[in-house]
Amino acid sequence: MNHAVTLQAEQVRRRLATFGQSHLLTFFDELTAPQQASLLEQCASLPLEMLAREVKGWIAAAPAHDDAGAAIEPAHVVSARTVDDAAYRALGEQMLRAGRVACFTVAGGQGTRLGWNAPKGTFAATPVTGKSLFQLFAESIRAARTRWECAIPWYVMTSPQNHEATRAFFSEHEWFDLGASTVRLFEQGTLPSLRSDGKILLSERGSIALNPDGHGGAVRALHASGALVEMQREGVDTLSYFQIDNPLAKAIDPLFLGLHSAHPQSAGEVSSKIVAKRDAREKVGVFCRRSNRSIVMEYSDLPAHLAQAVDADGSLVHFAGSIAIHIFSRHFLERLASAGHELPLHRASKKVPCVDLATGALVEPTTPNAIKLESFIFDAVPLASRSLILETSREEEFAPIKNAHGEDSPSTSARAQSNRAARWLEQCGVSIARSADDGSYNATIELSPLTALDAEQLASCSRLPKRIDAGATLAL
Ligand code: UTP
Repeated sequence: MNHAVTLQAEQVRRRLATFGQSHLLTFFDELTAPQQASLLEQCASLPLEMLAREVKGWIAAAPAHDDAGAAIEPAHVVSARTVDDAAYRALGEQMLRAGRVACFTVAGGQGTRLGWNAPKGTFAATPVTGKSLFQLFAESIRAARTRWECAIPWYVMTSPQNHEATRAFFSEHEWFDLGASTVRLFEQGTLPSLRSDGKILLSERGSIALNPDGHGGAVRALHASGALVEMQREGVDTLSYFQIDNPLAKAIDPLFLGLHSAHPQSAGEVSSKIVAKRDAREKVGVFCRRSNRSIVMEYSDLPAHLAQAVDADGSLVHFAGSIAIHIFSRHFLERLASAGHELPLHRASKKVPCVDLATGALVEPTTPNAIKLESFIFDAVPLASRSLILETSREEEFAPIKNAHGEDSPSTSARAQSNRAARWLEQCGVSIARSADDGSYNATIELSPLTALDAEQLASCSRLPKRIDAGATLAL
């Protein structure tokens, strides 16, 4: 080791010792010189002070928020049915035509529940042709550009774990005809995985086990990557945010844009869409109010008596399920990023392969052995002075792909995509076969966004069939 490396090693050793993390150098002497240099770099960039504060918080069971004891009240929700106002829609279209709107997709997650060993955006999601999620949204954006005659840049957040694979996928597919310069991929940050006593895990003898820092990492990553500055240069001041794993998300919704910009309940900072929860147990975050602000509570944090509380008519009091569709103003994100606002970290128990410190062997755990820390983008909601919460229809806008089987899986999502296409076609006068048992559609239909972005646009399509027979499979 040369003198500079020895000095750095000494500094790192001391810092690790101060925070009780010296075990990270257990195998240091066995590593090659480049591996040693890399491990020292990794250790030097660990946010040890912040991690120590977090761990102290768990052990003291400190409340996550200063006002955690304050009463939780139902969210103030505006229903899309009552505000479907042509003026708001026209305003949203004006924003598009003025080039003020970009799409922003978070796609840096690891998709562990789905068990897909590649970026989730590459997953074949559509019911007939098996288009990837990236292709589906690229088609939506192309269709929106054509319909509203505007440029809509697409910002896609990846993570160090999937950035190269994502870039390669876009490149292999020639950027889905969007134009490479209009798609900007940028990486989010990472955080180390920890044992429950706060000790950081090694994924290899010379590497720290790191996980992406959650979709809340978007605030910092948009700033650090220069994306916010780039948007400012290009005149973009509004971001249409959606997650990669919900094929029903509308990449662009002029009504939502217009409401965000001008509805009295919106401060034009962040707006969110919700759907009524399926039942008290559905695993989605819930919009509520606390201390006169809108907040989103993770399903695991909402006390059971509140999750199950019902009104006189039997409907859930806290019904407002988050579907992770938002609009953010660039100014709001700039404000959060430059004020160094750290969104709170949430803990999740996960199975993380790691090195056994006693033997140096790699352990593949069969039960959760680690805590991953992540921040969530919806924790930005209470940082806005006011925010609009818009209720929309689950059937039209929410069919996420989370699990390999069962609820929220590829098959439930494909069915929901097909059903939405069938409904739109019926609205255009097409007759569609239904099952005699339960009246459900008896056909599998895929509608490309390039054919229509909604039922209204579909109505002007000249090549619609008159009827779709039982058992048919059709891509339009
Ligand atoms: P989820 O929280 O459902 O996580 O992400 P996931 O990674 O897709 O799946 P699991 O939990 O490992 O099974 C919701 C959205 O947020 C993105 C995901 O890519 C997805 O679009 N995300 C999640 C990020 O961009 N970064 C993260 O660190 C986490």
